[in-house]
Amino acid sequence: MASVAGGLLFLFLHIFAAHANNYIASSSSPPKFFNVLSYGAIPDGQTDNSQAFSKAWNEACKWNNRNGQNVVLVPSGTFMVNSVLFMGPCRSRMVFMLRGVIKAPSNPSLFFTDTWIGFRYINGLVVKGGGTIDGQGNFAWPYNDCFTNRQCKTLPVSMRFDFITNGRVRNLRSINSKNGHFTLYSCNNLNITKIRLTAPEESPNTDGIKIGMSTNIKISHSIIGTGDDCIAMLSGSENIDISSVLCGPGHGISIGSLGNNVAKEFVRGVKLRNCTFVSTQNGLRIKTRPSSFPSFVSDVIFSGITMANVNNPLIIDQQYCPQGNCFYQEERNAGVMINDVTFMNIWGTSRSEVAINLQCSEDIPCQNVKLVNINLAYSSTSAKQMVSKCVNVKGVSYGRIQPSGCL
Ligand SMILES: *[C@@H]1O[C@H](CO)[C@@H](O)[C@H](O)[C@H]1NC(C)=O
Ligand SMILES: *[C@@H]1O[C@H](CO)[C@@H](O)[C@H](O)[C@H]1NC(C)=O
Repeated sequence: MASVAGGLLFLFLHIFAAHANNYIASSSSPPKFFNVLSYGAIPDGQTDNSQAFSKAWNEACKWNNRNGQNVVLVPSGTFMVNSVLFMGPCRSRMVFMLRGVIKAPSNPSLFFTDTWIGFRYINGLVVKGGGTIDGQGNFAWPYNDCFTNRQCKTLPVSMRFDFITNGRVRNLRSINSKNGHFTLYSCNNLNITKIRLTAPEESPNTDGIKIGMSTNIKISHSIIGTGDDCIAMLSGSENIDISSVLCGPGHGISIGSLGNNVAKEFVRGVKLRNCTFVSTQNGLRIKTRPSSFPSFVSDVIFSGITMANVNNPLIIDQQYCPQGNCFYQEERNAGVMINDVTFMNIWGTSRSEVAINLQCSEDIPCQNVKLVNINLAYSSTSAKQMVSKCVNVKGVSYGRIQPSGCL
């Protein structure tokens, strides 16, 4: 008896000690700061600080701070940066704390870099601080001729997150990106909150957040108003949770486009809640191309959505082919399958007549689509009657659906 109790006591003390150790280590190991000013950065809004930023990062990245964090600090002031890539893996958890403003070049000879600000191969990254990144896109947008020139050079996205795991991004502002604001590629467990992304409505390709090949991504309490999609979920996006996002102006929140004729593609597990769209071109959109590879979109729930003066509030386009250069499948059962999609509790106003527009193909009809409690009206007085269109859609509707007629 005594020895069992003793053993248990020992075990308990052991576990307790381990916990206490962890607790003390994580709370008492102070963060170590790497201020970019100490690495030669000059906040005059003109000097290129790429080198100073890289140096600060590299020092911080190799500093072993046990359970503590290493903080790369960009204090207040305006820091011009031509291009910088923050690489991991790092020895301790990394924080990039932006208090000031990082400004992109306005000189066209410096535009066409792959990355403006990039984070790559980092586990446990935190980006925060309430600062702003200014892409100075107004100088670059005239160089975006990708609508007419197939060989166009692409402008850099403002902030790239590639291969980031267990990360958090919060309290950050991005304005006037040259291309998209943020892209996420091959990330897992990344939470983005309280960010604000802005660019003028007419600025080309200024997507808010583009997600590809990434899992367990959370975006919440953010405001995104740009010239392209507020959020775009591309192939490989899985378990994406978006809530309390205000979108507008812009092209709405989209899944796709999917189906590019070179590989199987998918988007699976998208939850969008409590979001508002103001004067956007689209609201909730799924766009897939007529593809030759079997691909799919599944498990999507849009709920608690307010539309204010949105052109296409609910739209599925399974034959999306804006340039008319799509490869049409020869075999049946090819293409992008869309199933298990729920549109629930959606209200507000539409600018166009077809407020619900779900267009699927005859070969692969959309499956298990649910419409639940939808109430959309014209945003201005119109003599026309608002309609809904569902083509090749299999599913059900519950509650009041306005405009009715679908499913
Ligand atoms: C992101 O949020 C989810 C859900 O709140 C949480 O479980 C997860 O640990 C968070 N991830 C990070 C890296 O903070
Ligand atoms: C819904 O979103 C708004 C902002 O768009 C936010 O203020 C509110 O707290 C959110 N509600 C919930 C329940 O998250």
